[in-house]
Amino acid sequence: MSSEFKILETDSDGEGRACQLSRRRFLQAAGVGGATLAMLTVPGCGTLMARTARLPSKRLASLADLEVDKPVTVMYPDPKSMCMLVKLGVPAGGGVGPDGDVVAFSMSCPHMGMTMIGAYNAKHKGMGPCPSHLSRFDLTRYGIVVSGHATQSLPQVLLEVKEGEIYATGLRGLLYGRNGNLG
Ligand code: FES
Repeated sequence: MSSEFKILETDSDGEGRACQLSRRRFLQAAGVGGATLAMLTVPGCGTLMARTARLPSKRLASLADLEVDKPVTVMYPDPKSMCMLVKLGVPAGGGVGPDGDVVAFSMSCPHMGMTMIGAYNAKHKGMGPCPSHLSRFDLTRYGIVVSGHATQSLPQVLLEVKEGEIYATGLRGLLYGRNGNLG
């Protein structure tokens, strides 16, 4: 292997380091206080920051009170933000509990903010169709868009379980209509 090639591979702090960044260093540079950032440019709103970030913790419910496919409405991170807590019955990305199947998501559609009351789809473990423009989201895969006009995932509430109690501890994604998840 040539010495030139060795320089390109290295990611040490030593002299002679090439200008390439490893994936690890790129992610370190992008992180702010442990948050993962993504830039969103919205006409008339400038640049917004969507991130996975810790927010004030709030108790949502007891694990023992949840039944499969019976969503519970909770407010997080503030009293104006309606979210849905649900035990899916199948493991999910970001799921907590002994089966890794308890998740929570914003109920505001990321397309134009329609509140998706009663839109939980037990058969497909999803949210939607949204009453406005029929977007659907997969709740087993971090709320990704399955179909419809939405272009962003449904914001997911970060959850933790302590002694059988479920706590919201943050959000992944930006709530509709916000330039910050704390309003
Ligand atoms: S507001 Fe939900 S798809 Fe448009």
